[in-house]
Amino acid sequence: MCGIVGYVGEENPKDFLLESLKKLEYRGYDSSGIALQNNDNIQIIKCSGKIQDLEDKIGKSNLIHSHLGIAHTRWATHGEANERNAHPHRVGKVTIVHNGIIENANELKNRLVNEGIVFCSETDTEIACAVFNYYYRGNPIEAIENAIQELKGSYAFGILFEDQDALYAVRKDSPLIVGLGENENYIASDILAIADSTKKYMLLEDDEIAEITKDRVTVYYNREVINKEVLDVPENVESANKGTYRHFMLKEIMEEPFVLRRMINHYLYHSEELFDITPYEEIHIVACGSALYAGMIGKSLFEEKAHIRCVADVASEYRYKTTLYDRKTLVILVSQSGETADTIAAMRKAIENNVDTLAIVNVKTSTIAREAKYHLFIEAGPEIAVATTKAYLLQTAMFSLLALNAAHKKGLEENYDLIMKNLQNLPSLLKKVLDDKDYIQKMAIDIKDARDAFFIGRGVDYSMCLEGSLKLKEVSYTHCDAYQAGELKHGTISLIEDGVPVFVIITDDKIKDKTESNAIEVEARKAKVFTITNDESIKTHYDKYVVPKIDDYFQPILVVPVFQLLGYYVALARGLDIDQPRNLAKSVTVE
Ligand code: M6R
Repeated sequence: MCGIVGYVGEENPKDFLLESLKKLEYRGYDSSGIALQNNDNIQIIKCSGKIQDLEDKIGKSNLIHSHLGIAHTRWATHGEANERNAHPHRVGKVTIVHNGIIENANELKNRLVNEGIVFCSETDTEIACAVFNYYYRGNPIEAIENAIQELKGSYAFGILFEDQDALYAVRKDSPLIVGLGENENYIASDILAIADSTKKYMLLEDDEIAEITKDRVTVYYNREVINKEVLDVPENVESANKGTYRHFMLKEIMEEPFVLRRMINHYLYHSEELFDITPYEEIHIVACGSALYAGMIGKSLFEEKAHIRCVADVASEYRYKTTLYDRKTLVILVSQSGETADTIAAMRKAIENNVDTLAIVNVKTSTIAREAKYHLFIEAGPEIAVATTKAYLLQTAMFSLLALNAAHKKGLEENYDLIMKNLQNLPSLLKKVLDDKDYIQKMAIDIKDARDAFFIGRGVDYSMCLEGSLKLKEVSYTHCDAYQAGELKHGTISLIEDGVPVFVIITDDKIKDKTESNAIEVEARKAKVFTITNDESIKTHYDKYVVPKIDDYFQPILVVPVFQLLGYYVALARGLDIDQPRNLAKSVTVE
């Protein structure tokens, strides 16, 4: 959420900052700004809207000569998304950009107002800036040290002091790295922003302070200089571009067969690298949004196939509730970004209770990847569209592989060899579904004017309904709800009226007749019933799409992409901003 970049070197920072902000725009995109410094002259340009609006504004401005600057793209937390609240913020001699939330901002503000400080914005960032300025007496490290003792919450700061020819950075519970270039250095909240400029970087840990000039990086902790390891930017961090696609979302959906094949091939030949869940008596899968819905599929498979007790829980609830760790428990954290604040907190709760943690994560340099005891990387590559598609798919596939492996180890899967053989066809079957995109687009055009849509299914089909519903609502702004099919009669059926689309997922043979009856019930109330199934023999109500039938461990992988495409095409038909839907951001680094 929000993106930070900073530059110090020999060039004017403007181009690097703008290009890097574009790479981070998916993290927040309601306003943005840059600050350029030349000795004690600081020029701040900011505006509401997209980075393009900032670029246009910068294009019309006379820029100062500079070789030092910071920039930010924002997802509003404190105060509206307008120019006043956009970062950078300046108070006295200090200018900052900030990711995170300062939880004691009001308390600090009251104190600073009493000391005569006048605030121009509604942000917690401006208050933090005033705290840095309050402590600044010419020694930046001392000012930052003193300020961070006062700030409660999460933060990553890029900081300029008007009489210092260096860039400063500090973080806590919000990522920030220092990129190491030739006669130039950088800061960024996401490695993607610097991956085209350098292959070397340092990872700042909580409350380490970096002082960065064009040819030197000094890192302090508790006012002492510390040695930092120089790391290599991982190979698959290439700067993402849309290629020939109009949107990242469609590109990322179309990449699914490729990334899935890569994952399957890897574990076919390195099955020993698959984490063994069988020693555990209980598993807690904890995540947010789509990652949780992938986890819910995992829960069904772990219980049904591997006979291991499992709960799947929302991280924002799990972190605060009383949890009994009285069995040998594994907590699995699922996260594309590895930076979701609630999932990090849930992980730390498990660690504090000496419970084993396993991260299923995409971003290798992320907090969750680094702090969990064990990790499995899904290797989806950069996912830029805010709505997750390929990462969700690989999270689901990882759960399928873990469940199959466990069932095999426990002697519960007699068809193991056949299933492994079939697995090699899965990417081609997925491609076949994606090749039907024109059919799915027609479905989308059919429902494009619908105000509401419902998704019903039972068991694992219900978990797919949750993801289908989330995909459609987040990108197309259709109001959607997902229900266990048997639950509809207990209230929700009163919302079913003439023409409302109801998507019915039926893949589980054991309960298909039951779900089919529920489809008939909504049809009787004049709903448009779209059935998505793996069974040709299921009756067609209003419309039906049949996906190839595959071993039930992997069936969701052929169903959910239908809904990813559906959401995409409804949003397209409505002319919406598909890659950056309103009010959202790619990774939710605040509570
Ligand atoms: O980065 P994470 O996987 O931890 O993100 C979790 C959710 O915020 C994310 O899946 C969200 O629900 C997406 N917008 C769904 O498309």
